[in-house]
Amino acid sequence: MVGVTETWQVEPSGPLRGDIGVRGSKNAVTKHMVAAMLGDGPSTIRNAPEVGDVDITAAMLEAVGFAVSRDGGEITIAPNGKLESRVPAAFTGLNRIPILMLGPLLHRTGEAFVPLVGGDPIGRRPVDFHVSALRALGAEVEAGPDGITARATRLHGARIDLPYPSVGATETVLLSAVRAEGKTVVRNAATEPEVVELALFLQRMGAHIELSPDRRIVIEGVPRLRGASRWLAGDRLEAFSYLAAGLITRGEVRVHGCPQDRLVTAITTLAKMGAQIDITDEWITASAPSGLRPAAVSTDTHPGFMTDWQQPLMVLFTQAEGMSVLHETVFENRLVYVPALQKMGCEIETFAACLGGEACRFHDTNAVHSAVIRGVSKLVGADVTLPDVRAGFSAVLAAAVADRPSVLRGIHHIERGYHRPFDQFGSLGLTIHRG
Ligand code: UD1
Repeated sequence: MVGVTETWQVEPSGPLRGDIGVRGSKNAVTKHMVAAMLGDGPSTIRNAPEVGDVDITAAMLEAVGFAVSRDGGEITIAPNGKLESRVPAAFTGLNRIPILMLGPLLHRTGEAFVPLVGGDPIGRRPVDFHVSALRALGAEVEAGPDGITARATRLHGARIDLPYPSVGATETVLLSAVRAEGKTVVRNAATEPEVVELALFLQRMGAHIELSPDRRIVIEGVPRLRGASRWLAGDRLEAFSYLAAGLITRGEVRVHGCPQDRLVTAITTLAKMGAQIDITDEWITASAPSGLRPAAVSTDTHPGFMTDWQQPLMVLFTQAEGMSVLHETVFENRLVYVPALQKMGCEIETFAACLGGEACRFHDTNAVHSAVIRGVSKLVGADVTLPDVRAGFSAVLAAAVADRPSVLRGIHHIERGYHRPFDQFGSLGLTIHRG
């Protein structure tokens, strides 16, 4: 993992071309690591990416008493004697994983403390759905200034209606209900591929989970789970980001290792913008020899256009001919990275209104969640500080087509979520000097 002071000087280097292999997704690997806490024996996760969030999660698991070993893309997690019930405060604010550890720690030790969660500064990112779900499952939960404490001699099944199909809250229910006593029914559950992937891993561990077509998941608790092994499917966020990197620079990146069904809406969006897409069982490639058209895109829950794709899309919009509209409907404050792109010459205006699609739940709020983007913008090299992981990647994309080199600060954000980005960009022909 790189230090927080690392900077990149990015030199515009012409069209980015080449082959990129994506590993398992950041948003699945860490959840599988937490699931492994529930097994009586060792679990192995394969095709794991080398991202900062894995390092943080491994350190948290070790801090509560699990043995974690890593060998390339393989992570093995095993119970290792007596477990601690507290995740140390040193992990405060590093990522969103501690909240997911509450259920497994409760099953293991009857009590749990996790420090305040962090992650990207997008929206308030509250944890109220997680807390309500745990209470419904019978835990006593107290939220304090430093973190959350929970107690339960045994969790029991419950009926849980999520106010919004939250990925994290659905995962909390899965990770807590699989070993609870009796049946849990969760309605309005998230159906993101990474959630389903976690459910499949838990099933391999011996959990009884039924997925229904109407966002309903039924879980019959079992007293014990065993360790399991799973190969993670390729990261759809990373795959889209590199396809966009090729298009933005008028090059062509061929992405290997991400199943097409995970990218269906992204691919259609790029095709509507005029990109030429080729898809085989092994790879997907996108190019735009005659330029791109603008589009109006609303982010949404799966299978809609995912919110983590919007930052690379925003830079792509600046290179399409005409006015595009982006409407973020999942997080109320996910446009915090726009000032960094504006500094690099991106012509983006933001609005506290629902533009370019149906009104969303932020309609009557002051949330700045829509943007109008003018293309083709002439981008300029700049000195910018990256606020979060996806925004960081987008700034690299903007820097790649700027008129002069850029200095990007806060590179650790990119390395928290992308597998070896320095090497990957280098292999596509982008010149980056580390500082
Ligand atoms: C996960 C992903 C993130 C992705 C997001 C949506 C990880 C580490 N992160 O985030 O990359 O963008 O799914 O696909 O897997 N909400 C509440 N209360 C809660 C929980 C959520 O109000 O207790 C709201 C959030 O503020 C947001 C919406 O629900 O508006 C969706 O959040 P959620 O799906 O939970 O996102 P994460 O799991 O945090």
